[in-house]
Amino acid sequence: MASDTKILSISNSKGGVGKSVVTMMVATALAEQKKKKVLIIDCDSQASVYEMYEQEKEMYPDKTPLIEVEALSPRRVNTFLKRFGGDYDVIFIDIPRMTDKKADNPTVMLLYNCDGILVPVIGSEVDVLATQEFMEVLEECKNFKADMKEDFTAHGFINRRNLRKSNAEAEELLNKAGLKMFENSLSDLRIFTTPTIFKSPLSSTEGERRFGAFFNEFCKKFKV
Ligand SMILES: Nc1ncnc2c1ncn2[C@@H]1O[C@H](COP(=O)(O)OP(=O)(O)OP(=O)(O)O)[C@@H](O)[C@H]1O
Ligand SMILES: [Mg+2]
Repeated sequence: MASDTKILSISNSKGGVGKSVVTMMVATALAEQKKKKVLIIDCDSQASVYEMYEQEKEMYPDKTPLIEVEALSPRRVNTFLKRFGGDYDVIFIDIPRMTDKKADNPTVMLLYNCDGILVPVIGSEVDVLATQEFMEVLEECKNFKADMKEDFTAHGFINRRNLRKSNAEAEELLNKAGLKMFENSLSDLRIFTTPTIFKSPLSSTEGERRFGAFFNEFCKKFKV
């Protein structure tokens, strides 16, 4: 695989925190604004990102998607990456929610491929607890990459900031626990309820205003 391909994942073991939609948002923005060739590997057996991609392509056969999406079972990802990974500038791995976080769990092992992981957190107590558990997985990734003499970056961010009052507390706790939280967070945005493969959230003034600073921080922190 080309050494300049970045493999990233917006991940948390917790379900419903925005892993898939934020992946779509960042992926389309990287494609449109930064002219990157971007692939999302959808490893969720529900394949919601892949289904949406297929449906949208079918609905608008004349339009060109900004990104590509592949649905793969976790066990097939390594072979895929070896063969086709080099064709892309950035690859996102979208993982399902997970209950088993043992180091040899196939979903956990997927994350060992990553150069960087961004963890969405909804600022409630249960989410913070779940994220603290997920940090053990991040630690394993970091150690694995260190053994390989490769860089690894992990950050967190508050998603749906306006839903909870306890965001600042959550940020402080996670920062203290060693997860470097983004300066920018995301509020509950209408654009997140209608992700599309044809448009970047930054193509509207509203999107630019609500998503721009977060996206810039993403590019800076993950060096894309
Ligand atoms: N910032 C946001 N603003 C508005 N809606 C959001 C935001 N983040 C997530 N959502 C909504 O929350 C729901 C869950 O998001 P999503 O499917 O991305 O979570 P997930 O972590 O991928 O879940 P799963 O673990 O089931 O894969 C979706 O309906 C999505 O549109
Ligand atoms: Mg998902």
